[in-house]
Amino acid sequence: MAATSIVLTELNRKSTCWVKVENKTFSEYQSPPRSFDDELKNKNNGLIYLEINGDLAGYVIYSCSSSHSAIITGLAVKENYRRQGHGDALLKAAIEKCKSKRMHRVLLYVDPLRTPATNLYKKLGFEIDTLLKSFYSSDQDAYRMYLDLNEV
Ligand SMILES: CC(C)(COP(=O)(O)OP(=O)(O)OC[C@H]1O[C@@H](n2cnc3c(N)ncnc32)[C@H](O)[C@@H]1OP(=O)(O)O)[C@@H](O)C(=O)NCCC(=O)NCCS
Repeated sequence: MAATSIVLTELNRKSTCWVKVENKTFSEYQSPPRSFDDELKNKNNGLIYLEINGDLAGYVIYSCSSSHSAIITGLAVKENYRRQGHGDALLKAAIEKCKSKRMHRVLLYVDPLRTPATNLYKKLGFEIDTLLKSFYSSDQDAYRMYLDLNEV
């Protein structure tokens, strides 16, 4: 049986972005990027994607600000590849990038009903800062979570 190929790749503004995110691939995700190229138009953004045997299986998007604070703006793993450690690997890769860019803190927002994501963030040391009522919509709240990088 052929070995599974698992590759994490970082895109940057100079990359030739050939990968398009299909809406159906990440349909349950709140706001999938239309294309990775669009995300990378902002020079503060970074994007790491995961390929498994050539299939786009997941991605994480982060944005670093000049105030030493970064934010994770997107994270998703395709359904059939979940619960195999890929979300963990993607998030850790983004955290390492933020550290290398001298960020002091990583922030993110997550719907408290997204138990897999919330558990993943807690597992990697993120703490809940506050609950923001009606953040996404009138009946959809968000946790703001943070990870202090000098404590990791
Ligand atoms: C959140 C998500 C990226 C996790 O990806 P994944 O590859 O399945 O995660 P991993 O296999 O690396 O799991 C890492 C940890 O996440 C948590 N987790 C993952 N799936 C879980 C589930 N179904 N139920 C409870 N906890 C879960 C666990 O803490 C797990 O650690 P463990 O295996 O030691 O228990 C994936 O479920 C996803 O794409 N969800 C939809 C998109 C989304 O909600 N994005 C976040 C928006 S803020």
